[in-house]
Amino acid sequence: MTDRESTEAYGHDETEDLSFAPDVVVRPADAREIAQVLVLAGTHRVPVTPRAGGTGLSGGALPVHGGIILSMERLNRILEIDTANLQAVAESGVITQHFQEAVEQQQLFYPPDPASRGSCTLGGNLAECAGGPRAVKYGVTKDYVLGLEAVLPTGAIINTGGRVLKNVSGYNLTQLIIGSEGTLAVITKIIFRLIPLPRMRQVLLVPFDSLEAAVQSVAGIFQAGITPSALEFMERAAVRAAEERQGKKFPNGDAEAQLLVEVDGNNEEALAGDIEAIARVVGTHGATDVLLADDRQKVSDVWALRRGIGEAVKSISAYREEDTVVPRARLPLLVRGVKEICSRYGITSICYGHAGDGNVHVNLLKGGLQDDTWNAGIEPAIREIFTLTVSLGGTISGEHGIGYTQRPYLPIALPEAEISIMKAVKRAFDPEGILNPGKIFL
Ligand code: LAC
Ligand code: ZN
Repeated sequence: MTDRESTEAYGHDETEDLSFAPDVVVRPADAREIAQVLVLAGTHRVPVTPRAGGTGLSGGALPVHGGIILSMERLNRILEIDTANLQAVAESGVITQHFQEAVEQQQLFYPPDPASRGSCTLGGNLAECAGGPRAVKYGVTKDYVLGLEAVLPTGAIINTGGRVLKNVSGYNLTQLIIGSEGTLAVITKIIFRLIPLPRMRQVLLVPFDSLEAAVQSVAGIFQAGITPSALEFMERAAVRAAEERQGKKFPNGDAEAQLLVEVDGNNEEALAGDIEAIARVVGTHGATDVLLADDRQKVSDVWALRRGIGEAVKSISAYREEDTVVPRARLPLLVRGVKEICSRYGITSICYGHAGDGNVHVNLLKGGLQDDTWNAGIEPAIREIFTLTVSLGGTISGEHGIGYTQRPYLPIALPEAEISIMKAVKRAFDPEGILNPGKIFL
């Protein structure tokens, strides 16, 4: 497709308001067709940007140098759910939620659940190594992938890993390609490891008088011997934004900050014990209440509100979203530092995210700031936030990727020796530099 409507539609993802028109959008059916496109692109040195659901938040799918958008939308088949081995094979364009629901019908569980799971796809999740709330107990996308079919920029089709749970035969190309943000290979097929579906889930909402108090209680929950299946935090402005956009109310939406804690398992008594223990810990940290979302509808409403926060915050004003992550127990220091830095620059910040993972989505809003003040402050403020994050033993992106927007800051997180070996890997996969150029590295 080369018409303007199509090139515009495929020229942006969910990253801020960035948009770059490709010259052409191609919708291949399989690995063989993708290989043909890549060979042609290599011959003519045309950039190729793979695109999955287009829900990315660091610009990984933006065709920043024009050229070809390689959309994976037609690779949308779940090929097999292997209940004997707890594995599944799917094409990369399958919507994540569709895949989850299909395996759940077999009482199996694919835990990675990015907020965009209703529209993102498996291949994009692999490319970015997406996380989500359940990562705190179950790990991130990479922890469920056993093997790949992928097309190299040279047009070779490779099959990495396999249908085995152990594999040390050669370098781990599967895990190298996961999280490589579409710069090393185009993922076409995925072999997943699944786990049994927990039979019960309970959700607690815990309001606090301050953001710091909320995150201060997080480490204690794990120290009490509990691993929640989700442990999210959100400050009031994040809750408000989601409430307004969805026209629904969070219980205790007026609290300065809230924790959303989910526990899961197969044993009702054990879950009740976990909930009691959590209530004790948050009580010692100043929780003002503990609310059990006691029916399915309430649980799904609460999660819908939580998942809608990103989109809602984005609609408030021009903004930048950061994806900092630190060791869990240092979360209070990060949150306090972010607030202090932002207030010095006069920038409004809205924080929410995966408290159990120490993963904070810091949203920096332009709000009513003059263009000059915003433009002068935003870059140094981000640098200060990232420098603080790294000094706390963390890094600059936990689950959204470096992509296009975070490239200038990568040297804050990684020393030159590491960046240069990464660039050498990129050259080994993609000698002509045609695959998703302008990403990760400046
Ligand atoms: C979330 C996305 C922004 O956690 O990662 O809502
Ligand atoms: Zn997130």
